[in-house]
Amino acid sequence: MHSHWPRLDEIAYGGDYNPDHWPEPVWEQDVALMREAGVNLVSVGVFSWASLEPRPGEYEFGWLDRVLALLHEAGIAVDLGTPTAAPPPWFLHQHPRARPVTRDGQVLGGGSRQSYCPSSDDYARAATGITAQLAQRYGRHPAVVLWHVNNEYGAPIAECYCDASAAAFRAWLRARYGDLGTLNERWGGAFWSQRYGDWDEIDAPRTSATVVNPALRLDFARFSSEALLDCFRRERDILRRLAPGVPVTTNFMANNSKSTDYWRWAGEVDVISNDNYLIAERTDGYLDLAMSADLARSLGGGAPWLLMEHSTSAVSWQPRNIAKRPGEMRRNSLAHLARGADGLLFFQWRASPFGAEKHHSAMLPQGGTSTRIWHEVTALGAELGGLADLRGGRVEPDIAMIWDWESWWALELEWRPSVDLDYLERVRAWYAAAWRSGLTVDFAHPESDLSRYPLVVVPQLYLTGPAAASNLGNYVSAGGTLLTGYFSGIVDAWDRVYPGAYPGALREVLGITVEEWLPLRPAERVRLTWEDGADGTADSWTEVVQLAGAKPVVRYADGPAAGGPAVTRHGFGAGEAWYVSARADPVTTARILAAACEPAGVTPGQHPDVEIVRRARDGERFITLINHGENTAQVMAGGQPVTIPAGDVVVLRPTASAERDA
Ligand code: GAL
Repeated sequence: MHSHWPRLDEIAYGGDYNPDHWPEPVWEQDVALMREAGVNLVSVGVFSWASLEPRPGEYEFGWLDRVLALLHEAGIAVDLGTPTAAPPPWFLHQHPRARPVTRDGQVLGGGSRQSYCPSSDDYARAATGITAQLAQRYGRHPAVVLWHVNNEYGAPIAECYCDASAAAFRAWLRARYGDLGTLNERWGGAFWSQRYGDWDEIDAPRTSATVVNPALRLDFARFSSEALLDCFRRERDILRRLAPGVPVTTNFMANNSKSTDYWRWAGEVDVISNDNYLIAERTDGYLDLAMSADLARSLGGGAPWLLMEHSTSAVSWQPRNIAKRPGEMRRNSLAHLARGADGLLFFQWRASPFGAEKHHSAMLPQGGTSTRIWHEVTALGAELGGLADLRGGRVEPDIAMIWDWESWWALELEWRPSVDLDYLERVRAWYAAAWRSGLTVDFAHPESDLSRYPLVVVPQLYLTGPAAASNLGNYVSAGGTLLTGYFSGIVDAWDRVYPGAYPGALREVLGITVEEWLPLRPAERVRLTWEDGADGTADSWTEVVQLAGAKPVVRYADGPAAGGPAVTRHGFGAGEAWYVSARADPVTTARILAAACEPAGVTPGQHPDVEIVRRARDGERFITLINHGENTAQVMAGGQPVTIPAGDVVVLRPTASAERDA
């Protein structure tokens, strides 16, 4: 990653700004209100293709010229969109074959956004055209400090199964394998008569009579992520050529995008930017928020990142769009800041008067400036002015957690031992245990250097390539503590089971073999007993574990694996590898994490409702404490007791006492 922060002197604050939804007189009011709210950066024109190029090759830039001039005069910087996520009606009308096709063969219509095939040449030409025009016209505009390419690649169309996509997939396979013999061998072509004699016989893995070859599905997932990344690269390269010096980003959806392997994307953007929306039904949405922020930061190797979108209150696309409670937006915002964001933007500045998202919250709601939301927005803008010292600070992690898109894809293909296997559920469970224990998590790729972390948690790594397996093994033998969840180390990159007993890739380091998986029925629950006599429970998943050097820490007290080890620890070289073979309840999960912290020398903290994150810069450390609970909390931070009222946030400055940060 180039990590090339936009020219801004403050914490970035603002949102998506869609002036083309409003008559011009409103724009001046917008800019005045932006200043009142402390806005210094807006994303403009993200979906404005039809306003900018109303007919193919005919451009209308006058309105954008005027908007950028107004913003610039007011000292508000611009993150300029390439509008390629919303091809105009003329495009789909002229190029009906560019419409995306679903796995079931349904050709999707227009009338919306994001309706295009990533492998379409017509789309490539049209997207190149408008991007080059924008780059030429605004590449040196003094207001433009960042480029916002497209929008949330992969949402909602991540895979296209049209003929053009199938042809591009074949070309990608040829480049990957060179010869069909290798492909047939990797894909297990002997199974169900799947041997290919000609490249042209390979199709996109459309819905078929029954389960489609999982290796084909996995390669198609890789190809599809790469096809979208190529769309990004194409626009980025135009911008870099015609608008040198202005950083380029595209907004990620960190833990919410299954289809884009962001480990591969992260190195391609100049600045990591991320969108985060709470699932409003969950009362502990702040856990997912923290996870998303930690993943965004980790993708950028710890560099400051930009929160490109979140919401001031309710969204408009969930079954029940529950409004944020007073103070919640501030807590959300400061949590992102604490976890390494140097900018906080919203979708969107002013609520739209029409269209699909008019009921979505905004910085300036439909009710205008006499609303609670507006007051909270202006208060936050003022508060951020006083927190500018955090900019550039690096978050200090306590532990690492392995995150891997390929393994996620492989795990959730059909015909697994249980439908209850769910990648995000496992990561969330371990992440929640870490959060509630006051531990800050960095996410890491399984093949990355883990040596700086005393403890590495592997929630679930069903697909573990040989490089990942040896990396994890080397980490432990060099003194690290590894805590591995069940159904990890089972298959290679082509979904082929490692020979010998499970879990082939990790057997040696874990000092166990798994003889049999024993998934449970929905309502079944088993009891667990710790070696020290304490009790716990598990549901959904258990296993027959054989010790091969490891020692039991917890045993199954009943259920199909009764008497056998449920949790084990294994000294391996200078470190230890723990294995958890069951889906333990949350209290037991936290206890297991705490037990594994001991050999790692990690001290779990403090208060289950208080988020504590440290960010350091130039030898100075800022500690953010956020009380998500309903009662006043007291914790020790920075060597002193700190009181945090319910729902409040305290930022301890390096020299400061425990006083509330104004
Ligand atoms: C995002 C999208 C925005 C807006 C927002 C609403 O996923 O990037 O354009 O639709 O959701 O929550």
